Amino acid sequence: MLVPEPIEITESAVQQAVEAALAAVDAAADTAELKAARTAHAGEHSTLARLNASLREVPADRKAALGKLVGQARGRVSQAFAVREAALAEAENARRLAEEALDVTEVALPGRPGARHPLSLLQESIADVFVGMGWEVAEGPELESEWFNFDALNFDADHPARAMQDTFFVEPPEAHLVLRTHTSPVQVRALLERTPPVYVVAPGRVYRTDELDATHLPVFSQVEGIAVDRGLTMAHLRGTLEHFARAMFGEGARIRLRPNYFPFTEPSAEMDVWHPGAKGGPRWIEWGGCGMVNRNVLRSAGIDPDEYTGFAFGMGIERTLQFRYNLGDMRDFLEGDVRFSQQFGMVV
Ligand code: DAH
Repeated sequence: MLVPEPIEITESAVQQAVEAALAAVDAAADTAELKAARTAHAGEHSTLARLNASLREVPADRKAALGKLVGQARGRVSQAFAVREAALAEAENARRLAEEALDVTEVALPGRPGARHPLSLLQESIADVFVGMGWEVAEGPELESEWFNFDALNFDADHPARAMQDTFFVEPPEAHLVLRTHTSPVQVRALLERTPPVYVVAPGRVYRTDELDATHLPVFSQVEGIAVDRGLTMAHLRGTLEHFARAMFGEGARIRLRPNYFPFTEPSAEMDVWHPGAKGGPRWIEWGGCGMVNRNVLRSAGIDPDEYTGFAFGMGIERTLQFRYNLGDMRDFLEGDVRFSQQFGMVV
């Protein structure tokens, strides 16, 4: 241990050391600063400690007087530290209590509400259009058996039509599971669970091995419709679609059907919608597929095709949203940016 160097004990030296210590005590704004001041002014290397140590060197006749001088000085200083320490500790404690105080009577503010995603809103309003006509809303699994996704819909095992849709096959292969490539398998599920007349609409998510770009999403949504009853014709299909088109795109909307091929409908058609509010002026846009339910599909659901006929249709919900609001880039649908969703209303 370092022995403090002796210094000469004079009244003014003692006085100065005391004043310096008291000034440091006053200047300390918190207990940490006070601790540092104590080390500097009352610690073992402080002037007061050195003055105290110097008493050893003092001649016997002056020992009592100088001892008293230094002793009183040290006493004053240490008392000043103690008083200040108590005051600072109390203030710090009071501040902490104030900071940590909880008003248990305060009314909690509700969190900032988010906005429903426009796709969910549109999906619901689509369902509403059909519920308004007395249809039911149904759902099917997104992890679907190959049989529902293809076979029951009249896709032949090695018919090239199976390659029409870029399928995610799910391992193990012998489980014959796919991520459904369309909502059409819900047609068969709906028919198996009901007896005609059947009027069912089925919105939901579908998957294809498409690259993500402005007009393609590998995960997107479709809405499927199927009606099976006695005496249904393409006129019923057309009327239903036209009603739906007007609900989506306004009173000026119309439907145009062009011949096409789908394994699950016969005849099949591509449907275009006349979009009166399209950006850049009214025009035809491709909206989806439709047709009269293929007799084989009715048979795979146990329905006699000589007794019942049906029509079906399916279209993309993202495309519908895109055209309804003249949106540019489909990738905005995936970003999850609440500012995008808020533009469609804060419906919760
Ligand atoms: N499932 C078809 C697709 O994803 C769309 C479709 C076409 C659905 C014709 C139908 C239909 O119900 O009758 O491309």
